Amino acid sequence: MVKDAGLRMAVIGLGVMGARHAQICHNLTRVDLVAVADIKPGLSQRIGQELDVTAYTDYREMLDDVDVDAVTIAVTDQFHREPCEVSAERGLHIFLEKPIATTMEDARAILDAAERGGVKLMVGHTLRYDPRYKAIRQAARAGQLGDIIHAYARRNATVRSGRRLEGRAEAMVFQGVHDIDALTWILGAPITRVYAESASKVLRDLGVADVTVATLRFANGAVALLEQSWALPAEAPTLLDAQLEVVGSKGAAYIDFRAPSFALITDGQYTQPDAILGLPEAYYLRDEHEHFLDYVAGEAPPKVGGEEALQALKVAHATLQSAAEARPVEIGT
Ligand SMILES: NC(=O)c1ccc[n+]([C@@H]2O[C@H](COP(=O)([O-])OP(=O)(O)OC[C@H]3O[C@@H](n4cnc5c(N)ncnc54)[C@H](O)[C@@H]3O)[C@@H](O)[C@H]2O)c1
Repeated sequence: MVKDAGLRMAVIGLGVMGARHAQICHNLTRVDLVAVADIKPGLSQRIGQELDVTAYTDYREMLDDVDVDAVTIAVTDQFHREPCEVSAERGLHIFLEKPIATTMEDARAILDAAERGGVKLMVGHTLRYDPRYKAIRQAARAGQLGDIIHAYARRNATVRSGRRLEGRAEAMVFQGVHDIDALTWILGAPITRVYAESASKVLRDLGVADVTVATLRFANGAVALLEQSWALPAEAPTLLDAQLEVVGSKGAAYIDFRAPSFALITDGQYTQPDAILGLPEAYYLRDEHEHFLDYVAGEAPPKVGGEEALQALKVAHATLQSAAEARPVEIGT
């Protein structure tokens, strides 16, 4: 069913995230979800039927057939560039899942394509919508934490996550861009130098690190420790072990995902559903799309724009380079 008001949108890539984005676009009154595409025919058909929109296996064919104003792109991490270039060439605004790309070359090409096409580009860094991260950012920017001295951020997942990605990206890129962007946003200063070490044992066969640990130096003199792992045992009770600590001259702030703030016992099973993304309303993703609509309407700046997303990727790559070369790496502007 196509609504007759709102921004006409299509979703490209219907995996774990794209299926959620499609559902959200379908629910939002300000969006007309017109079509969906995924190279997997069964998946595309199923979601098309569920949402009562036309399903395609070739997104180019979809864009030839349907009239849309914008696309949500949630294809596999290393394939972001092509659908972004094709969409931008057609003048379509783009909401792109993070990371902007897996290589700096692709990230720059995406920025260039958006500029050439004169289209708006926003990248889905979900922590910008997390009320806890927002509150810490607000306290920091209001001076309530004083002069920030040091911080610690970690996002540790189970090996199931690393195996699911099949070596397509490093944890520092797949997950790390979230924390790099959040730290930069909260501390209000760019990262100027990194020094990192990696270890690979359980995912060695995939050619990726199990963990990368980095020290970060910020332009305002603060330092941070950043830890990105997907080596937790598959049986770990929480899906994600993420933390944030920010220490300033006047205060401190903490976030800890480990304590089970939400659990269900249903059908004889104890589960801790992912409250960020796994609930039917998945409100962070809904808020992202709401913000994208405001951005496209010219009512708000992007959260996160292409340049900021590229900067997060640049820092992630610098940590990997540092770990590979066993030396600190300076981050240029
Ligand atoms: N914001 C978050 O918290 C968050 C969480 C997980 C993943 N992600 C990001 O979302 C994106 C998708 O990740 P995922 O976990 O949903 O992956 P996934 O593997 O579950 O889904 C990707 C889908 O893209 C499809 N695809 C690949 N190339 C395509 C093409 N050319 N045309 C159409 N479909 C194509 C695949 O068939 C697959 O169904 C990635 O960029 C990932 O980093 C974000």
